[in-house]
Formats: sequence, structure tokens, C-alpha cells
Amino acid sequence: MTPPIYLDYNATTPLDPGVREAMRPFLEEVWGNPSSVHQVGRRARALLDDARDRAASLLKCKPSEVIFTSGGTESASLALCGTARLLQSKGRHLVTSAVEHDAVLHTCRYLARKEGFDLTVLPVDASGRVDPATLRQALRPDTILVSIMAANNEIGTLQPVAELGAICREHGVRFHTDAVQWFGKEPVASVHQFNADLVSICAHKFHGPKGAGALFIRSPLLPDPILFGGGQENERRAGTENLAAIAGLVAAMERFVPDPVFSRSQLEPLGNRLKAMAGAMEGVHYVGAGERGLANTVSFVVEGTDSIALLAGLDLEGVCASSGSACSAGSVEPSHVVAALGYPPELANALVRFSLGRETRPEDINHVLEVFPEVVTRARPRPSRRDASD
Ligand SMILES: Cc1ncc(COP(=O)(O)O)c(C=O)c1O
Repeated sequence: MTPPIYLDYNATTPLDPGVREAMRPFLEEVWGNPSSVHQVGRRARALLDDARDRAASLLKCKPSEVIFTSGGTESASLALCGTARLLQSKGRHLVTSAVEHDAVLHTCRYLARKEGFDLTVLPVDASGRVDPATLRQALRPDTILVSIMAANNEIGTLQPVAELGAICREHGVRFHTDAVQWFGKEPVASVHQFNADLVSICAHKFHGPKGAGALFIRSPLLPDPILFGGGQENERRAGTENLAAIAGLVAAMERFVPDPVFSRSQLEPLGNRLKAMAGAMEGVHYVGAGERGLANTVSFVVEGTDSIALLAGLDLEGVCASSGSACSAGSVEPSHVVAALGYPPELANALVRFSLGRETRPEDINHVLEVFPEVVTRARPRPSRRDASD
């Protein structure tokens, strides 16, 4: 059986063999609890400290500013719930954008609905970008926290994060960026490049393990914890540390973040061929920010179809693509990102995303170019006999 062509790297990536090797000692001989005072525990503690030092040296921050988490979702929840609750006596206004991942949007909506915070959701332009002037206008004396993602998972748009962060800093407002799709794809010279107080990172998006992530928290900010128990992670995240996952995250960061593993020079020409295909097909529209987007992400909306039919058709042709964000139940929801760009609901239901990666070859793109027109035709309802004779 020929292996499928995997074009869903924004959902997840395969574990890198070198990263797996870096994790192996923690699945075998180093099994101690870093909080134990005996020598088995102390060895685990020394290796945990070493992992944190290495992550901090890569991010160019203090080790105490790195909190290891279970991934992007937990990092965003800690950043948003923890900071909102910490600062609520100063104000209760939160700001985010209409194109955030649900990890951010749903958390913000939860805080608004259940805890009485006031939420402003900023609009975006036709390419999915937040206008810095719109953010400036939205800030109020009671604004405490803004969360805008660095790179969009569905359509690849890069936000002017450094500029947005600078505006927040100028106004004394805390700024979180969900950089889950940025790390490994766009350069990171220092975590301070985002001008953010909080930065969410997730290992499995750049060939690290699932269930591993980090939150950078710029000192002296100390968000309220969202998990309670022991004093791990600077008292911000209770629970015995998952050392194998942490070792995998740090190994993946060292290997794939400074020189992004998603190489623009490899992926841009491949992505451009897909974009050109859309231009040549009736009713197929590229959505995204062009050169101001991730090189690996090419998304289309397809008139007269829906995502489920398109994805099923591609799957039958051996191509794994996505409709944007993978839903936990495997169901496909209309894309809130496409809706935010101003497309009508039927097109928000007809998104197909190809996200390319390290293993993508020109032959894979040739195959997509060959089968996609037929997949689209099959996904469109056939005219009924009466329609045809009309
Ligand atoms: C932009 C963005 N933020 C957050 C997440 C959540 O990451 P995880 O599900 O690994 O916790 C994802 C994953 O798809 C993402 O793409």
C-alpha cells in the first residue's frame, strides 16, 4: 500500500528520530520524581533544571520565566485565566481577535460568560490581519490583557505581533501571543521579539512530542495558577513534571526553532504551485495573506462544496488535508476564521487547508494538482435531471 501524502503539518508533525532519542533516557533509566530529595530524585531534578536552562538560553530569557505545560491549549489557558484573575482588581476588559484558535477564543469567552470579564473581539482584514490602529482604539482604561496569535493555523496569516505588543506595553496592558504555529516555521531570535508578556509554545507542531509545551512569562508577572497542588513550575503549575515530554520539547526547540525546520526556500515554491492551481480553477479561491503568511500553509474555499466532501475525496486519493482546525470529535465545523474574513457561511463550510512540511516532496504536490480538480467536481452536487434539461 502506498503511504498517504500527509499535508496536515499544522495539525501535527511526526516525531523526529533525534528528538525520540533525546526522550529515551527519561522513559527508561531516569524515572525519578524531581521533587524527591534522594539521589534518584535529585538526578531527575538536575536534568529538569538543565532542560529549563537550555530552553531559556534558546529563548534568551531567564529560566524562571519558562513554565513547562502539556501543550498549546494549557499554555493559553494559564496565560489567559491566570493573568485575567490576577489583574481583575485593576480592570476586567479583555481583547482578542476573531481569528484565534479555539484554545484562546473559547477561554476568553469562558472568562466573559462565567467570570464576568468584558470581551472585545477585534475584526480582521480580508487577509486575516489585525490592524494595529484597531487595537489601539479598542484599548480602554480598564483593559488588562490582550491576546493575538502570531501565526494563524487555518490560513497562515502572520500578525504584526511586535507592533501589537508595543502598543499594549505603551498602555500598560499585558499581551499574550499564541505562537504555537510560529515556532519552527518563522525565525525566533529571542522570545522578546514578540514584545509579549506571555508566549505560548507547543512541541508537536515542530516534530516534538504531543502533550508538551511551554509558556514564557515575562517577570515579574506571575499569573494565578490554574492547577493546584504541589509547588512545581515556580508554583504556577502543580503536578509531577513529565520529564520525557519536556526533554522532547527542548530537543525539538534546539533542533528546529533557531533555523526553522519548515524551510521557506523548500516550501514556498511548492505552496506557490498549489496557489496557482486555485487561480486556474472555477470557483476555487485562495484565502490567506500571500507573502505575509506562513510558507507552508495554502488554504482555499471551494464554491458549491463543503469541507467534508472535499476532505473525504482527497483522502480517497491518498491525500491527508484538513478543513482548518482539527476538532476533538473529528467532526468538521464551519471555519470561524473564514467567516471573519467576510465570506458567506456556505464558504466558511467549504475550507480546505494544505499544510506542507519537511517531508513534502514535489511529487506530492504533482499528485494533488492531478487529483484536486476531479475531487472538486465529485464534491459538487450533480445537477438533477430536471436542472440539466432546464
Ligand atoms: C494556533 C494554535 N494554538 C493552540 C493550539 C493548541 O495546541 P494543542 O492542541 O496541542 O494543545 C493549536 C493546535 O492546533 C494551534 O494551532
